[in-house]
Amino acid sequence: MEIARKNSELVTENIKQHLQTQFIGHECICLKEIDSTNNYALKLMRSNIVSNGTLVISNHQTTGRGRRGKKWFSAKGKALLFTVIFTELNQNIHLPMLTFVGALSVAEGILQNYPQLKPVIRWPNDVLINGKKVAGILAETLFHQKTSGKANTGAILGIGININQTQRDFPPEIADTAASLFMFIRRRISRLKILVSVLEQMEKLYFALEEGQEKKIWTKLKRISSTLGKGVKIKTSDDKIVTGTAIDIETDGALLVRLDSGKQMKFYSGDIEEVQWND
Ligand code: BTN
Repeated sequence: MEIARKNSELVTENIKQHLQTQFIGHECICLKEIDSTNNYALKLMRSNIVSNGTLVISNHQTTGRGRRGKKWFSAKGKALLFTVIFTELNQNIHLPMLTFVGALSVAEGILQNYPQLKPVIRWPNDVLINGKKVAGILAETLFHQKTSGKANTGAILGIGININQTQRDFPPEIADTAASLFMFIRRRISRLKILVSVLEQMEKLYFALEEGQEKKIWTKLKRISSTLGKGVKIKTSDDKIVTGTAIDIETDGALLVRLDSGKQMKFYSGDIEEVQWND
């Protein structure tokens, strides 16, 4: 898909013109600046007046949130910062799975436009190119009461993708570990083009999940995972350090590790303080 530069601004009209989805992004809220698109999406969901698949996207976030209470920083106008709202989660879908759908849709969206970049997914949900983090996913659920009085679990999928930053745009603490697509391609990249590809991939994967085709997601995830077979050093939330080899990703989202002692152990991202990967 080629998008003329003058039409590539991230505004509702352009997004709707290019997006070929059945529900994701049909409602679209484009903001210049916000604290966090996830916060905005959660407020919308609580208000009960939001439709399934609504996209909240902002040119800048003042307090973007990452996983485990970390900040997600991004230079103004150079990244994709957005959240998709799923008002009602089908029983086939649980949060770790939705997170994998987010990471896979980013990897496949990049691959579609720049196959030479060969993005991979580092468990649980970082998208890396050449060992550098280019995107992160923050999925959150919200249990809420619908106007009918029926209780319901919805979820939001927040995604940050580094698109046109230069190395100097990253704060010193992540300058060595983060990168943008621009840093590999060496020319300005249309944020709209990547957004459209990611959302279209997301919808396909979401439908597959709804239809119970978890296996399809699983196969894709394992094929593109940079984690399996790697050595890991894990600091658990109760401050223990364990080392071993990552041998599988379980259907509940857990990482299965063969510890150096020979014992196998499952880890959930919530139980882990820090994880280091060795090739
Ligand atoms: C991580 O890797 O720690 C997850 C980062 C998620 C960042 C995105 S940017 C859009 C959305 N709004 C937020 O505040 N966070 C997510």
